[in-house]
Amino acid sequence: DVTIAIAPHAAPVADVPRRMFGSFVEHLGRCVYGGIYEPDHPTADEDGFRGDVLALTRELGVTCVRYPGGNFVSNYNWEDGTGPREQRPVRRDLAWHTTEPNLVGIDDFHRWSRKAGTEIMLAVNLGTRGLKAALEELEYVNGTPGTALADRRVANGIPEPMDIRMWCIGNEMDGPWQVGHMTPEEYASAVDKVAHAMKLAESGLELVACGSSSAHMPTFGTWERTVLTRAYDNLDFVSCHAYYYERGARSLQDYLACAEDMRGFIATVAASADAAREANHGTKDIALSFDEWGVWYSDVWNRQEAEWKAAAAEGLHHEPWPFAPHLLEDIYSAADAVVEGSLMITLLKHCDRVRSASRAQLVNVIAPIMAEPDGGPAWRQTVFYPFAEAAHHARGLAWAPAIDSPKVATETWGEVDALDAVVTWDERTRSGLLLAVNRDVTAAHGVTVDLAGLPAAGGDGVRVARAVVLHDDDPHRQNTADAPETVVPRELPVSTDGAGLCFDLPAVAWAAVEFT
Ligand code: AHR
Repeated sequence: DVTIAIAPHAAPVADVPRRMFGSFVEHLGRCVYGGIYEPDHPTADEDGFRGDVLALTRELGVTCVRYPGGNFVSNYNWEDGTGPREQRPVRRDLAWHTTEPNLVGIDDFHRWSRKAGTEIMLAVNLGTRGLKAALEELEYVNGTPGTALADRRVANGIPEPMDIRMWCIGNEMDGPWQVGHMTPEEYASAVDKVAHAMKLAESGLELVACGSSSAHMPTFGTWERTVLTRAYDNLDFVSCHAYYYERGARSLQDYLACAEDMRGFIATVAASADAAREANHGTKDIALSFDEWGVWYSDVWNRQEAEWKAAAAEGLHHEPWPFAPHLLEDIYSAADAVVEGSLMITLLKHCDRVRSASRAQLVNVIAPIMAEPDGGPAWRQTVFYPFAEAAHHARGLAWAPAIDSPKVATETWGEVDALDAVVTWDERTRSGLLLAVNRDVTAAHGVTVDLAGLPAAGGDGVRVARAVVLHDDDPHRQNTADAPETVVPRELPVSTDGAGLCFDLPAVAWAAVEFT
């Protein structure tokens, strides 16, 4: 009862940027300590990195990792994490109220990234610091030996420039929770100056301004217009952040349709970027970096923070500053995986404007990879699978197909299509990928796909290389440390007919069909 079609001569959206499959490592909870780094773990390597987490990171297909925050970066001194470990200072992190021993910093993360095969997207502190620290960090990280800070990096054991191209100038500076948060005008002026100076120091950088922390911020829209108009000449990207979870939606049906929010978010920010281009009589488009997205049960964190604040209000001045506490360790369900699959489809369908994205975060903290403490194993959450499929197989060009689908009723967005889908085709390998979600809470749907517009349809027609579906009769079923393979993709029966594919999708399901 659903048709998905790419008509002959239908234009693709754009090429799929490799950075679409980015992730995020923040000094938060057990993401770094007990996540990527745990020197006592049986799989740890000579640098103290967990081998099991590295292996799963590669299996996930992550291409680029944002570091070191997030909120953490806004009271972080990058120098603290460089040089001999035993000389590094222990600090208090105000964002997550934890002790930061600085056993991992940019030198170490650079080594980790090389092992993981990932690019780094580096964020600088605009909360407690600014222009001078950003320029110094840039010199340390990317400088050719021969100047003071580049030579300090060499002395610290990294002779070659790290060649980090993509830099985030601050994090969520619109958020009242952010250390050093700013008004739109204050941030517009700050980011303009920092970006300008960084580009004087080095050509070829790709600089990202903070956008709104969500589409529901009171300054959403105004923030983007003000910042992008003022700093247009010096910027390449504007960031977008969006998290979703079932209790934050009006119903499970609304939650499943939350990609509608992401779609509106992308349209509004792209319009602001276009308005900034017009106002500057410019020719370049500022791209979107969706550098925090995913499912986060943020109500749990909000309750915890409220408890701290209540305790502090009672005059408790010496609160604990725990080291690597269990924070934001959400355990995901089948429905969460369908939602993340649907968000990935939305990002790919807008890859003409969204040229970079980072699913937040990588390990333990709102993460696809969980790493058990005390020498325990690492395992895959439900949300691991839709990401890994896209990261490995969504290559080449992306098409937003025409979709004729029954509707589902949502309280937030009215009637929306039950089915959503994207198609990619890589002419180099002559292979394609269809990603589809059934967001209908109650009904299964029969799906017919017409790929007549793709080169795959030529000759003998489409051949299915692999087809999987992720679904559970209980949408709330989870993978856990004890039963990590409860919800995994299973084989999806697909029939072919010339340029056509035919399959059934159960209610609340994500599917992938690889074809040639
Ligand atoms: O990813 C968790 C937090 O969410 C980040 O630190 C912050 O940028 C956002 O609010």
